[in-house]
Amino acid sequence: MRNLICDLSHEIIKPYVTKNDIMIDATMGNGFDTLFLASISKHVYAFDIQDQALNETKKLLDQSNVDNVTLILDSHENMFDYIKTFKGVFFNLGYLPKGDKSVTTKTDITLKTLNQILPRLEVNGFILYVIYPGHDEGFKESKALFDHIKTLDPQIYKTVRIDLPFQDHNPPYILWIHKQKSDQLM
Ligand SMILES: C[S@@+](CC[C@H](N)C(=O)[O-])C[C@H]1O[C@@H](n2cnc3c(N)ncnc32)[C@H](O)[C@@H]1O
Repeated sequence: MRNLICDLSHEIIKPYVTKNDIMIDATMGNGFDTLFLASISKHVYAFDIQDQALNETKKLLDQSNVDNVTLILDSHENMFDYIKTFKGVFFNLGYLPKGDKSVTTKTDITLKTLNQILPRLEVNGFILYVIYPGHDEGFKESKALFDHIKTLDPQIYKTVRIDLPFQDHNPPYILWIHKQKSDQLM
């Protein structure tokens, strides 16, 4: 077990992904989420901006004989240069565990990517965020994401929050946005 919130993030999406689905891992890190997504979907496109993340993920996938993944060294804001259709996008925000803490996901880029994903999301598609408000940039990112997501039409986007209400020091939490209806005008 990694930690409760990361484990729960996997359990939540499991029933919603099939072996016909394409998934995007927006922040591959050490590859644990990529490996999980590969086990439940047809193919995963995984992004990170650090060579270290690609190397670690490649090692993990090779050890597990997993070959339905494309690793891409690029920022998630460019994901649609590579992919057109997908079922869901998974973000495990923040910095690489045991890596350079200054290389962390950034509020403005995270919001920019969210705004690119939303209109491309199919009905029953989703975006899942694991959010870490316990460090400075993560706190800013958490607030900005929450403030933006709460403006979405709740008839179209159902948002679920899972958190640790009795833990101190701004613990991690999950925001899961599930698209229930088309936002195209008939
Ligand atoms: C918490 S880690 C991800 C953990 C990972 N999913 C795992 O299973 O180990 C966050 C990752 O986001 C990456 N990152 C930061 N900004 C990024 C960006 N703009 N695009 C893609 N990845 C980014 C960092 O390099 C770091 O590896």
